[in-house]
Amino acid sequence: MIITIDGPAGSGKSTAARKLAARLGFPYLDTGAMYRAVTLAALQDGVDLGDEAALTAVAARDDCQFDLGPTHIRVTLRGHDVTEEIRSMRVNDHTRYIAASPGVRRILIQRQRAVAARLGSVVTEGRDQGTAAFPDAEAKFFLDATREKRTERRLHEMLADGEEVTSAQILANLDARDRTDVERAVAPLRAPPDAVRIDTTHLSIAEVLDKIVAHLRARRLVDG
Ligand code: C5P
Repeated sequence: MIITIDGPAGSGKSTAARKLAARLGFPYLDTGAMYRAVTLAALQDGVDLGDEAALTAVAARDDCQFDLGPTHIRVTLRGHDVTEEIRSMRVNDHTRYIAASPGVRRILIQRQRAVAARLGSVVTEGRDQGTAAFPDAEAKFFLDATREKRTERRLHEMLADGEEVTSAQILANLDARDRTDVERAVAPLRAPPDAVRIDTTHLSIAEVLDKIVAHLRARRLVDG
């Protein structure tokens, strides 16, 4: 069974996806980590981020490993653990160039489908999982929250990770990423028409998870 959870940064989709995967005993696929890893590789190589062919070549090299578990994902790039580095502000500031590349998206979607085919069941989260990557997924969710709430959540995460950032920097970054995610020509951020939409602004993680599980139960996709 494939369950997709899409939404903008700070909507709570990563935490919800991780917790749902752990609850169901499914692997969890963090597709944002894939875009982040390609971003870091392109920055390391000093690639011109407007050069479509060069970006596609970076993605095609496939020198990144994702260790998927129900509660964690570890990312290795060219033999180095970059799990923390791909969450840095430097990478945040550049993912939008990589996310706008049709070549990179084609390659990463192929990889996402191959992982899902190999694993059988998966909870996958991103921006285009229920639209472009897995249009036939059994269950789709779209999470969103106000811009202020999303900024607050991201700020707490980044500060907890030891990044020195301000609320204004986070807000500017979220706005820039939202804009390119929504406006890009290929696989833009959209709620799939058949997705269950959840506004998480005033919900705790447990409440979001309860709503998702209640929906899966009502459709008899999970027991209980
Ligand atoms: O979810 P996360 O914030 O880690 O994603 C990083 C960036 O990767 C996003 O800002 C978005 O531009 C891009 N992305 C995407 N499609 C996905 C997952 C992430 O374009 N399926």
